[in-house]
Amino acid sequence: MQEYLIAPSILSADFARLGQDVESVLQAGADVVHFDVMDNHYVPNLTFGPMICEALRNYGISAPIDVHLMVEPVDTLIGSFADAGADMISFHPEASRHVHRSIQLIKDKGCKPGLALNPATPLSVLDHVIESLHHVLIMTVNPGFGGQAFIPEMQDKIRQLRTYIDEKGLNTVIEVDGGIKADNIRHVADAGATMFVAGSAIFNQPDYAKAIHAFRQALAQ
Ligand code: DX5
Ligand code: ZN
Repeated sequence: MQEYLIAPSILSADFARLGQDVESVLQAGADVVHFDVMDNHYVPNLTFGPMICEALRNYGISAPIDVHLMVEPVDTLIGSFADAGADMISFHPEASRHVHRSIQLIKDKGCKPGLALNPATPLSVLDHVIESLHHVLIMTVNPGFGGQAFIPEMQDKIRQLRTYIDEKGLNTVIEVDGGIKADNIRHVADAGATMFVAGSAIFNQPDYAKAIHAFRQALAQ
């Protein structure tokens, strides 16, 4: 059976009690912690850096941490996130002057590299580097904010990426990020995604276990 990963985005968590909130969402059945790093430069919003990642590790969070860098430049933050306890690190190709070099830096630091593609970024940016990637993060909203609506045209992009990966015989993970809800997750999975980021659809609900269960039920259909 296909393994699906649910990755709550802590962008929508309660920052005043972040450790407990992340612990609760993992106890509720989440697989991975998605960590949205924004710099008010590459995207028009500002969040958190490696210190918070390290604080979560020191608090005792042992689940995989998936860092999504929406920052420019990229390379200076790779080492500090790896040292802070990141497992997966993705970045936007537009934000790196040397994409292959940034991927290698992530690998050299022992993390799993990914490229994050904005809605308007073509799949052709993956040519010549896909073999080095652990995952491709398809943005299904424009990056910068939680709570935006899923862009339906991305369904076809995910399908094309699935074909591209399968034709090359790779097992690159397709991760989707933005506007994922219980009522669209099945369609996104049908298109070929296996890892699902969700912020507001989990953290804005009173019962995290119920929200995650609704995702798993939709995926099991
Ligand atoms: C947007 C972030 C997403 C976002 C998802 O820039 O990369 O991870 O927080 O939030 P929802 O699920 O609320 O769209
Ligand atoms: Zn994200």
